[in-house]
Amino acid sequence: MGRNVAIDGPAGAGKSTIAKRLAEKLGYIYVDTGAMYRAMALYVMTHGIDAANEEKVAEACGDIRVELAYEGKEQQILLNGENVTGRIRTEEVGNTASAISVYGCVRTKLVALQKELAAKTDVIMDGRDIGTCVLPDAQVKVYLTASVETRAQRRFKELREKNVDCDLEEIRRDIAERDERDMNRKISPLRQAKDAHLLDSSDMTIDEVVAAIMALCESAEQTKEKNG
Ligand code: DC
Repeated sequence: MGRNVAIDGPAGAGKSTIAKRLAEKLGYIYVDTGAMYRAMALYVMTHGIDAANEEKVAEACGDIRVELAYEGKEQQILLNGENVTGRIRTEEVGNTASAISVYGCVRTKLVALQKELAAKTDVIMDGRDIGTCVLPDAQVKVYLTASVETRAQRRFKELREKNVDCDLEEIRRDIAERDERDMNRKISPLRQAKDAHLLDSSDMTIDEVVAAIMALCESAEQTKEKNG
C-alpha cells in the first residue's frame, strides 16, 4: 500500500488548495475525489437525467466511465474519454454532485476507483468520506473545517476574482444546504473520523494550515520509522 493522507471537510474549507500544496511538498499524487462526483453529475445534467430520480441515475451509472489523468501535477478528469476538467467547477455541477452522491450506486463505483488509486501510489486525497471509508488506514487524517460565514466569503472572493457574477447570500445558502445534505445522508455521511485531527481554518492562513498538516505527516513518518 502507498502512503496515504486523508483530508475531509465541508465545501469551501480550502481542502483542495491545501492538499495541492501538501502533495507538492510530500511528492505525493493529489486526488480530488469531489471532481469524480462532479464528472458523474455533469453526465447526469447533460443527459437530461433527473438527479432526484435514483433509479434513473443508477441506470446511467453503467454508462459512465470516470478516469483520472495527470498533466504534470495537475489532475485531469476524463468522462467517457473526454477531458471535462474545465466544465465541472460551476456551483450547479457542485450541487448536482452533492445530490447524486447520496446514492449507493454512485458511491460504490467511485470509492472502488479511489481505493485502487491509493493502493498503487502515495496519495493525498480529499473529499467527504476519505478518512472514514475510502482510506480507513491512512497514516494521517485531517478534518478541515471553517465557519459557514468564512467559507461563503472565500467562495465569493474566488468567484469574483474569476469575474463570475455571484451573490454572497446565495452562496451562503448553497453552502449550508450542501453541508446539511453531505452530513446527513445515509451512506458515508461527512464525519470526522475518530482518529482524524480537527483543524478549523477560519482564523488560519493557508501557510499555517499547510505547516500544521506537514507537522502531522512528519510525526507519523517518525513513528513509522521507530516502529520499523
Ligand atoms: O469537494 P466538492 O465540492 O468538489 O464535492 C462535490 C460534492 O461531491 C460534495 O458536495 C459531496 C460529493 N462528494 C462526496 O460525497 N464524497 C467525496 N469523497 C467527495 C465529494
